[in-house]
Amino acid sequence: MREYAGTVESGDHWQSVYLTRQADEVGWYEPDPLVSRRLVAAAVRAGARSVIDVGGGASSLVDHLVDLDLERVAVLDVSEAGLGVARRRLGDRAGRVEWVVGDVTSVDDVGRFDVWHDRAVFHFLVAPSDRAAYVRLAERTLAPGGTLVIATFAPDGPERCSGLPVCRYDGGRLADALGPMFRLDASERHTHTTPGGTEQRFVYATLTRVG
Ligand SMILES: C[S@@+](CC[C@H](N)C(=O)[O-])C[C@H]1O[C@@H](n2cnc3c(N)ncnc32)[C@H](O)[C@@H]1O
Repeated sequence: MREYAGTVESGDHWQSVYLTRQADEVGWYEPDPLVSRRLVAAAVRAGARSVIDVGGGASSLVDHLVDLDLERVAVLDVSEAGLGVARRRLGDRAGRVEWVVGDVTSVDDVGRFDVWHDRAVFHFLVAPSDRAAYVRLAERTLAPGGTLVIATFAPDGPERCSGLPVCRYDGGRLADALGPMFRLDASERHTHTTPGGTEQRFVYATLTRVG
């Protein structure tokens, strides 16, 4: 497990969430991350051999990634407790994954990956400087031709998540926020139903690293 310093505030919030709530009772819990799986699988079919799940937390996406016979799988999250849930669930298979504890806005380098996946992390970055740091890391991590799969709340999605304010996007606004080094290939809307039965509108976008 690699550890990087992050902001105390964001780390504390997320550590507390994962230490006080069951992974399957948080609002963003998905029993099967179907849309993410489909979009990442399309990149793998097109030749991708490595995937990093940014802000993966306790998500079960990594359970599916380790079955894809990839050269490299990593999960980065500011909460060690969140990653711990996923590691314990994977058991022996956890050794096939690089677990990176760090804040996406302050980690310098995670190496190169073919696919960057993020569901419900970028939308927490309400400060332009944090979004810029995120984009710089994504640009460093993906070589030209690499794939960025990102999901955020849609314009008609909730204004807050886990008690924190979020920015909401459609595909075009995501492309604008990610800047000229990413080309929008496709976007789609998805309705997520929380464990409590509330519907939340998401947008998923797939972008190619250009340049
Ligand atoms: C809403 S949850 C989504 C978790 C997972 N992607 C999913 O779809 O189930 C947000 C996740 O992002 C992580 N996170 C929040 N801010 C972060 C940051 N600045 N750097 C890295 N991870 C962060 C949290 O710890 C949490 O696991």
